[in-house]
Amino acid sequence: MNGDMLIVLTLALVSLPIRFYHFQDPPEVVFDEVHFGKFAGEYINGTFYFDVHPPLAKMLTALVAQVFSYNGDFDFGTIGNSYLGSSVPYAEMRAVCVLLGVLLVPASFVTLRTGGHSAPAALFAALLVLFENSLSTNSRFILLDAYLLLFTAWTLLSWAMFLKHRNTPFTLEWWWWLSATGFGLGCAVSCKWVGLFTIATIGCSTLYHVWGLWGDLRVSKISFFKHFVARIICLIGLPIAIYVFCFYVHLELLSLTGSGDSYISPHFQHSLVGRDIIETPSDVVYGSIVSIRHLGTNGGYLHSHASNYPEGSKQQQVTLYPYEDENNLWRILKANSSNESEEVQHDILGSDNKTWLQYVRSGEMIKLEHLITRPRKLHSHNEKPPLSDEESYKEVSAYGFPDFDGDANDFWVVKTIGEALESRIQALQSQFQLIHTLQTCALYSGNKKLPDWGFGQQEVACIQNGKIPKTLWMIEQVAHDLLPLEKTRMTSYPRYSFWQKFKELHGLMWRANNDLKESHPYQSRPSEWLMLVHGISYWERDGRHIYLLGNPIIYWTVTVTVFIYMILSFFFKLRQQRGVAERFQPDLLQFYKRAAGFYAMAWAFHYLPFYLMGRQLFLHHYLPALYCGILLVGVSVDLVLQKFKWKLSQWIFVFTLTAIAICAFFNFAPLSYGLPWNRESCIRSQWLPYWDFGCERFSTIGHFANPNPKHAEL
Ligand SMILES: *[C@@H]1O[C@H](CO)[C@@H](O)[C@H](O)[C@H]1NC(C)=O
Ligand SMILES: *[C@@H]1O[C@H](CO)[C@@H](O)[C@H](O)[C@H]1NC(C)=O
Ligand SMILES: *[C@@H]1O[C@H](CO)[C@@H](O)[C@H](O)[C@H]1NC(C)=O
Ligand SMILES: *[C@@H]1O[C@H](CO)[C@@H](O)[C@H](O)[C@H]1NC(C)=O
Repeated sequence: MNGDMLIVLTLALVSLPIRFYHFQDPPEVVFDEVHFGKFAGEYINGTFYFDVHPPLAKMLTALVAQVFSYNGDFDFGTIGNSYLGSSVPYAEMRAVCVLLGVLLVPASFVTLRTGGHSAPAALFAALLVLFENSLSTNSRFILLDAYLLLFTAWTLLSWAMFLKHRNTPFTLEWWWWLSATGFGLGCAVSCKWVGLFTIATIGCSTLYHVWGLWGDLRVSKISFFKHFVARIICLIGLPIAIYVFCFYVHLELLSLTGSGDSYISPHFQHSLVGRDIIETPSDVVYGSIVSIRHLGTNGGYLHSHASNYPEGSKQQQVTLYPYEDENNLWRILKANSSNESEEVQHDILGSDNKTWLQYVRSGEMIKLEHLITRPRKLHSHNEKPPLSDEESYKEVSAYGFPDFDGDANDFWVVKTIGEALESRIQALQSQFQLIHTLQTCALYSGNKKLPDWGFGQQEVACIQNGKIPKTLWMIEQVAHDLLPLEKTRMTSYPRYSFWQKFKELHGLMWRANNDLKESHPYQSRPSEWLMLVHGISYWERDGRHIYLLGNPIIYWTVTVTVFIYMILSFFFKLRQQRGVAERFQPDLLQFYKRAAGFYAMAWAFHYLPFYLMGRQLFLHHYLPALYCGILLVGVSVDLVLQKFKWKLSQWIFVFTLTAIAICAFFNFAPLSYGLPWNRESCIRSQWLPYWDFGCERFSTIGHFANPNPKHAEL
């Protein structure tokens, strides 16, 4: 084992300069540092933001930033913004990612050694990890993948350790490595949901081994039960606890209102500090002035303003507006009474002791008069709305003139959901539809934003046969001069509990993930990752280009190995079925089958599910699968090495293979590190026609050393 220690140390020492080379360069925002750098600032400011990824890796990034005294004020707006002169400790933040990337190298070695594989094979895999361009590039910047990959690698390592101790159950080491596996799973899935694939991998392996235990008659039923419960606690309970805890810390840190407000429901918003507390009477009577919120989207309040639609009826616009504003105020009137005071029911006596007020009830017909532009009223008619094109959508406008009382197209029936007909409408509680009786449509809003003439506000329409959630509204604030406050209950938004926030965030994250549909110039499909068809441009300036491209030799080797594995396992199955004797010793064969099977399964679990995702995908989504694939290559090489008689020839074989990968690594290094390159080498390196790193940006030999061509011309 001492020899191994030496190798691990040497690996780490060799990796450090290779991975840290020029890591501060460029001192500018690169690729998704735009997002993850900004989020670090949000944690430091404590302002709420919304993102599709779970928070652990982002919180760790923020922690590093905080420790190195970042004050949160840098504008990460676009790729290429310069860090120089700002308080962003970008070098330290990157250094942590690089360090995590470095740790991946010894981790792969230890994982294979723990699994019982030979030192040359394990070293080979570790060197492939070290000299893999995309693993290197991706861990040089402030991104989440370095954290995710290390937690994934840690999980695989711990699991290998656990399996090594599986014959001495319930000892300290056994418990330690079982919990370490669960810890890794929890952390991985708290960085990105991709960690679920790691959970699936370990889950399948666990089932396989538990099934084996069940078949082992030396294990009593009680003992089997203990085994089972231990795994449930460590591999399911622990990861869930870590995941939930991360969200708890996340929400505690982001207690102030911020850029994420517009994504979340009003209840959630009002649980953040810095929002005005809304206190409103809960009773709604005719003549009240109300603001009405859309519930199906987080688009805001029913709104109108003194601008007309440029097309359709050319009447006044009605939109959704996310912020509080006096143009959100509407007066509720009875629909077809021309003289209100005559017909009111005597529900509640006004504070002047003589006017009777009537509650608004479900099923009644109302008009909504826009307070600022009165007597314009909420109106719908048989016109096409500005954006929604289908037949079932009708335009909604604000319509009316002085001396004109309006027409029946101003009438809306209030229909509560989940409450009895004729129940009273309550502010901040009753959820209702507004049904237009003449057009038989319901007031609706989707997530469509109007163009400039509508100030980018959200379209409101009236929809026939719409789904209920997007036609739901709620009265948020009520005011009436005569409402006797001593006789009505005041109400405000209930504060959301942690679990309500947790649940809402997950719904939003899930939807946001699926909505990432628009195409991106550097996106790629899973089928293209196998052959490394596309890369991703991370940053470029003055004849330098950082371009995420894998080491093609390693990508192709992994792919070929996976396919050979599949063919061979099928072939062995065929032979086994016919009872053909193998030349390998059965134990040895079993050992390699199990090891290769595990890593092939890990590769498949981290790769195949991407085919089911409709969202935009990128090459870096393949990296966890690639890591598993490299371990599979290590196992396969170990099997091949069994054929070599002499130890020395094993080493020679391994170093020859490694040398090829290293050559390829250095060939593409200018793209990985963003170093100056020359056009001739670039064109020679254009092995696949789709690699769009753009050789024309590099100068031809003779000029290439000058990083700033403008000066050369002067
Ligand atoms: C944090 O607060 C500072 C100062 O108020 C502000 O300039 C900066 O934009 C905020 N950062 C983020 C990420 O919102
Ligand atoms: C309003 O008029 C309609 C028909 O025009 C009638 O059916 C309805 O009962 C009237 N509602 C009220 C509150 O008077
Ligand atoms: C409404 O009825 C009241 C009482 O009957 C009367 O004083 C008032 O003038 C009427 N208003 C209108 C607009 O007809
Ligand atoms: C209304 O009546 C109550 C008690 O009957 C009295 O306290 C209050 O001052 C009266 N308000 C007005 C405006 O007359």
